[in-house]
Amino acid sequence: MWGGRFAEGPAAVMREINASLPFDKRLWRQDIAGSRAHAAMLGAAGIVEPDAAARIDAGLAQVAAGYEADGVPDALALEDIHMLTEARLTDAIGPDAGRLHTARSRNDQVATDFRLWVRDAIDDVARALAAFQDGLLSRADEHAATVMPGFTHLQVAQPVTLGHHLMAYHEMIARDRSRFADARARLNECPLGSAALAGTGFPIDRAATAAALGFDRPTRNSLDAVSDRDFALDYLGAATQCALHLSRLAEEFVLWASQPFGFVALSDQWSTGSSIMPQKRNPDAAELVRGHAGRITGCLVALLVTMKGLPLAYSKDMQDDKPPVFEAHDLLALSLAAMTGMVASATFRPDRMRAAAQAGFSTATDLADWLVREVDVPFREAHHVTGRAVA
Ligand code: ARG
Repeated sequence: MWGGRFAEGPAAVMREINASLPFDKRLWRQDIAGSRAHAAMLGAAGIVEPDAAARIDAGLAQVAAGYEADGVPDALALEDIHMLTEARLTDAIGPDAGRLHTARSRNDQVATDFRLWVRDAIDDVARALAAFQDGLLSRADEHAATVMPGFTHLQVAQPVTLGHHLMAYHEMIARDRSRFADARARLNECPLGSAALAGTGFPIDRAATAAALGFDRPTRNSLDAVSDRDFALDYLGAATQCALHLSRLAEEFVLWASQPFGFVALSDQWSTGSSIMPQKRNPDAAELVRGHAGRITGCLVALLVTMKGLPLAYSKDMQDDKPPVFEAHDLLALSLAAMTGMVASATFRPDRMRAAAQAGFSTATDLADWLVREVDVPFREAHHVTGRAVA
């Protein structure tokens, strides 16, 4: 695709370090959609003959059908999904395929594809978060009057209800949803037309490609559009915060499922056994949700550090933007599904929770409050008197 200036092909290791196809194949749907929008615009604007644009469109549909049927191969010589698709298009329709890349660079192409992918990922996560919230709400409703100890410093503090406790996570997830929604609104601008970095001299119609791909508008600055990845960092930031919330609930399930607590029994479907200790029922899924939060945080840090020192505009370092986003997304989707399943199927133990709430003088604050109300002593004195009674 770029061999005109070269006499020799790349070294094998050069080819290997350069290739992103093994991971960016995940962008194929977005790449086809972006190319079809671009081709239609080129045809409508008269930059490419309308007949040729129609042949390109049909050819891209054919390439997509091939990917759908047989998957996308690891053809390292073709570098990335963009080059593979163009090569397949050439196989399908011949030399007209070479007109598709008019007024476009892989730099605005990949920025567009990746925004589309992250937008789809956010929509998936939003659905999963809503389902998780529904599950929390229904268990909380069921246990609206189930007394349990509330903790501070992991010491019994005051009685609360399990419903109250579970609804704390409902609130966290509501904020996560709003963080993902913010990220989606901010990323929804179309880089196409930025070309390599400087825009293009062809009379393109950026509003048309933006609208065809469901973007709110074209991006304003071409240098920014090809070199910013803060939309991916916004996604990773929201994913990390969400993973930390899941991890805290997972940690509580691990504690609550332990024998000294005994607040919850995880169902067989969400427990694992030990290869040596026949009696064991381990909360592995909860532990892995807790563990995955570490890996998701690592993905955020990886991309932050990748971007940190890059001058404008595109540098190849930015090709490394995709693996951490894909990894974080897969881990988050799995963690959310696992926590949703665990919450739905857990058997809570109201008897154990009530007994724990009765230990540790958890109503001492109420006694102090009672002294203030009934005996009219200052709260400090009521606190002292109650403390003496506890001692
Ligand atoms: N595979 C590349 C990436 O993901 C596409 C952009 C390549 N652009 C370039 N100027 N080499 O970043």
